[in-house]
Amino acid sequence: MDIASKLPEVGTTIFTRMSALAREHRALNLSQGFPDFPAPLALREALARHSLEGHNQYAPMTGEPALRTQVAAQLQRFRDVSPDPVAEITIVPGATAGIFCAIMALVREGDEVVLLDPCYDSYEPAVRLAGGRAVHVPLVDGSFAIDWDLLGNALSSRTRMIVINSPHNPTGAVLSHADMEELQDIAELENLLVLSDEVYEHLLYDGRQHHSVLQYPALRQRSVAVFSFGKTYGVTGWKTGYCVAPPALTAELRKVHQYNCFVGVTPVQLALADFMAAEPDYPATLAAFYQRKRDLFNHALEGSRFTLRPSAGTYFQLLDYGAISDAPDHQLCEQWTVEHGIASIPISPFYQAPPQQHCLRFCFAKQDEQLLRAAEVLCKI
Ligand SMILES: Cc1ncc(COP(=O)(O)O)c(C=O)c1O
Repeated sequence: MDIASKLPEVGTTIFTRMSALAREHRALNLSQGFPDFPAPLALREALARHSLEGHNQYAPMTGEPALRTQVAAQLQRFRDVSPDPVAEITIVPGATAGIFCAIMALVREGDEVVLLDPCYDSYEPAVRLAGGRAVHVPLVDGSFAIDWDLLGNALSSRTRMIVINSPHNPTGAVLSHADMEELQDIAELENLLVLSDEVYEHLLYDGRQHHSVLQYPALRQRSVAVFSFGKTYGVTGWKTGYCVAPPALTAELRKVHQYNCFVGVTPVQLALADFMAAEPDYPATLAAFYQRKRDLFNHALEGSRFTLRPSAGTYFQLLDYGAISDAPDHQLCEQWTVEHGIASIPISPFYQAPPQQHCLRFCFAKQDEQLLRAAEVLCKI
């Protein structure tokens, strides 16, 4: 049967492909963004306990009340905002699901959505499935900052939404307070919605602060902020996240969520709620923990032929290989996985029109020994 695909150019994601190649060649896998060390024992025990105690049936559609209460408490603690857990917080099976639901719920046929390239690969397919059109605005080469004039020029009467992601995957760039004020002005002036992907909200380095859309009153009214327990608690395989938005936007988002995912996994939600109640300061430990790993990896790369692009947040480090090769990043990435046994992620798939640059993304959420072995290999290239 000839199936006219709705997403003809979409193949298997680069993350899945590189991890499969890494497995096949037993390569050191610094490609996909997840820790290779265990999550806190108390969290894992809580999951087992809740399942053994029989909490294995559907959770409420909007999420377990205990978890929504903990999310509200955490947002109060870290961001000094107080969303209503009943009307404004929705637990979803992973940030990706939250992003998909928000876009499907809010983007209409013919709407334009501004994406800042390079960007996480799930945004555009969701926009297209919603009947919208993605308008790609490149971040500034090198610094990966937003060029606000360029963004302003990309807006039209059809623009419905801007998607931001800070700290930013794949570059590690972080939006400043001044950026958020610019965004607030533009969103208000042009009456735009904002989808704010904040899954790395606790991973900022060198004393930097995260600025959430929830902290800017005019953005708060027109934004859906998306978070991931997977990233914060080191359990990406649990695929659980949450969306925070004002009641009217939340109501629309839930209309899609209830027919897409319906609910998140019950014992996972209860385990997270227990752990958050017992360890409310756990997220505050993450920046120092991951900054040490970033520095260990970067220090071990001194003397290599790579140029390190500064990583202000996330658990990704970009390495510029311009002094080593002119080959395209996706080709080199595969070649080095096979020949040198080291897997990373090319950044060109994060762009609609990749610029001339030679960067690979390495994930440093790995055990020290893996990071040092990886750096040793890289120093010989
Ligand atoms: C920027 C960004 N957004 C969203 C996600 C997805 O998070 P989750 O695993 O909770 O769906 C990721 C995961 O890598 C990410 O890097």
